[in-house]
Amino acid sequence: MKIQNLNNELQNKSILDQLTFLSDKFAGKIAFSTSLGQEDQVITDIIFSNNLPIKVFTLDTGRMFEETYKTLSKTLQRYEKQIDIFFPKNEKVEKFTTQKGIYSFYNSIENRKECCNIRKIEPLKRALQNIDCWITGLRAEQSNARQELALLEEDVNFGVIKYNPLVNWTLNNVLTHIKENNVPYNILHNKGFVSIGCSPCTRAITKNQDIRAGRWWWENNSKKECGLHS
Ligand code: ADX
Ligand code: SF4
Repeated sequence: MKIQNLNNELQNKSILDQLTFLSDKFAGKIAFSTSLGQEDQVITDIIFSNNLPIKVFTLDTGRMFEETYKTLSKTLQRYEKQIDIFFPKNEKVEKFTTQKGIYSFYNSIENRKECCNIRKIEPLKRALQNIDCWITGLRAEQSNARQELALLEEDVNFGVIKYNPLVNWTLNNVLTHIKENNVPYNILHNKGFVSIGCSPCTRAITKNQDIRAGRWWWENNSKKECGLHS
């Protein structure tokens, strides 16, 4: 089905109805990637609470916060469902860290992108093998670069249709869903962390900063994307 037709099918449907429709349309070939951040916890809650036949996976870069692992653990306990964990290739991490050092990403954008490639992009490619529809928790409001985000997009890099169910949600919508449904969340969100990635590359933000200002904060001029979403 063409993306435009799919898009028409999704109009005026609730997120649950959209997810149900797509899980039927892409049966066995639809997956949701969770970073265990607050947006993703909303989608996980909808998928697991409604027993939707959608694979859920996370990319464990090996540099996550302890609080993120605790969120994973709490989520597995709460829903009693499976989240597949994808890890980077050990030989690539070993070579990269041996040659360049354990904090090389602070030294150049090139090193940072290499690290993200090894720890996120390559595992994501494996996770998306045999998948036709990739669900993410991206929101347009998160950054300038994400303003043009659509509900459905063709992702030529990964060869899938990307579905962003929260595209038009505000942060407040996210927080309300979490509160009303008592969804487990990363306690770092209570400490000024809004967007959470790897621990050496994420810090808390102050009130008037951009949502993603705490990510790769030392890179003032880069677009602050790691290549998962270009
Ligand atoms: S990132 O590209 O800067 O890291 P961000 O943290 O905003 O992305 O998350 C956007 C979406 O990318 C998430 O909603 C999730 O679908 C996916 N994502 C990001 N990091 C991971 C991860 N470690 N594992 C799985 N999915 C992830
Ligand atoms: Fe490496 Fe930082 Fe990218 Fe994580 S966010 S993969 S630690 S450069």
